[in-house]
Amino acid sequence: MKFGIILGSTREGRVSPQVGEYVKNLAATQEGHEFEIIDILDYNLPFLGTGTPNQAWNEKIDSLDGYIFITQEYNHGMSGALKNAIDSAREEWFNKAAGIVSYGSGGGIRAAEQLRLVLAEQKVAGVRTNPAFNLFTDFENFSEFKPGEHMAQGVLDMFEELITWAKALKTIR
Ligand SMILES: Cc1cc2nc3c(=O)[nH]c(=O)nc-3n(C[C@H](O)[C@H](O)[C@H](O)COP(=O)(O)O)c2cc1C
Repeated sequence: MKFGIILGSTREGRVSPQVGEYVKNLAATQEGHEFEIIDILDYNLPFLGTGTPNQAWNEKIDSLDGYIFITQEYNHGMSGALKNAIDSAREEWFNKAAGIVSYGSGGGIRAAEQLRLVLAEQKVAGVRTNPAFNLFTDFENFSEFKPGEHMAQGVLDMFEELITWAKALKTIR
């Protein structure tokens, strides 16, 4: 199975690459599966309807069996960049599985729950376990990602659920 770890933030000075790398490093435990970081910034996506759609984005989304969304919380929701990236493809998302890793001052869980609703409309099944990192306790100076070792288990649980559902959903594509 192939999984994309999608960085939800495109903000200058963002911390999301650190969180994405942490998840990718833990994914090395998942033998036989591939995990790659997907940076929305690399695709220079226009706001939906305002420019030429980027075919490379749709092809990348199509090529994956599942996703791990790294979402931060902006004003109690996901970033506009992530919502636009989700809106920018359609059937390419259908019948895939996703895990959500969130962060924010309250673990980013409002953004994570909002993301679930959006993903449901794109026929993406979000697994239950949502590793949620806190800006006060899992980061130093709100900028250096240093989660405690105890946080890794949630990510491993999420991988297990994600891979199981991704396998099941592959049978109906
Ligand atoms: C516009 C904006 C709104 C934010 N709103 C929230 C919020 O509602 N809840 C929260 O926990 N953190 C909020 N934050 C803090 C972000 O979660 C924090 O800056 C985080 O590092 C953003 O992720 P990034 O660095 O990967 O972009 C906000 C940050 C910005 C820039």
